[in-house]
Amino acid sequence: MGNEPRIGSILDLEEKRFPLNLHPVLPDIRALWDLSNKLAWDPATAIPWDKFDASKYSKEQLDAARLYWSRRAWTEYSGTSESPAVLLRLVMEEGREIDARLFWAVQTLEETRHCIASYLLAEKCGGYMDRPPKQPPKSTQHRGIRDKALNPAISFEAFAIAHICIGETVAAKMFEERYKAATDPVAKELVRLILRDEIRHIQFGWKYMAHKVKTFTPELIAEMERVAIDVIENSELQGYHCIWLVPSEHTQPMIDANNITAAAGLGGASPEREMAALRESIADIRRDMAPWGIKIPMFDHPVVGRV
Ligand SMILES: [Fe+2]
Ligand SMILES: [Fe+2]
Repeated sequence: MGNEPRIGSILDLEEKRFPLNLHPVLPDIRALWDLSNKLAWDPATAIPWDKFDASKYSKEQLDAARLYWSRRAWTEYSGTSESPAVLLRLVMEEGREIDARLFWAVQTLEETRHCIASYLLAEKCGGYMDRPPKQPPKSTQHRGIRDKALNPAISFEAFAIAHICIGETVAAKMFEERYKAATDPVAKELVRLILRDEIRHIQFGWKYMAHKVKTFTPELIAEMERVAIDVIENSELQGYHCIWLVPSEHTQPMIDANNITAAAGLGGASPEREMAALRESIADIRRDMAPWGIKIPMFDHPVVGRV
């Protein structure tokens, strides 16, 4: 960094817009952007909402699904509230590829779409709830994405490893389980559309990092390893995707909602299936990061055991 002034936030960087080169430099990432545009869907019309038959379900099941899909909307909303910080990081840092910038802009829109579609299903189940019945621990709903993305002391590569490669891989595995378990036609179609987007979000992370391998230094690898371990230990294994990992009186209403929604076929997955998916995701992540020199250790967890 030489004698450049120290900056406290990515937002302190001066924006240098020109030359603005819009030619593809990472064709596989540009292909993901093309695919996103082709597969865009409207939450209001893409899902057969009229087919939702509330009379098939008990009051208990509908109340559970209402809370469950409200919580899904709150989680997806972090794409609206926090993903723009990642986009700012990509556009403010000199030399970041145009294809990554374009893809992230559409990724943010896709998360927003997931939020609204989840809200619409909560409405069908009896009404969207705008907050948790009891305030759950921070680890179950916050990952500090905005702070990390805007922090120049954390490299974008480390951020991408933790929150795109790891976070999106676990998210998509959970959606695969929800898709298998869903029997309600409306919930199943909603899960299918979200999963189709999430698969591209994962691909972006892994493909982008594969381009960056040639720039990895031992310091960067050590940093990526640190951030990766932190996000698995303090977010994934602390209930961010699997709420039953942190049982308490504050999380119990949402744990019950998840289990009843899963059993009713309304788009949830049972804790047994989520546990299997979490184990599988962590094993896949460990295997796929090893060739990059990033060593993910085994973790001991009071509920999951050794993972
Ligand atoms: Fe999403
Ligand atoms: Fe996503």
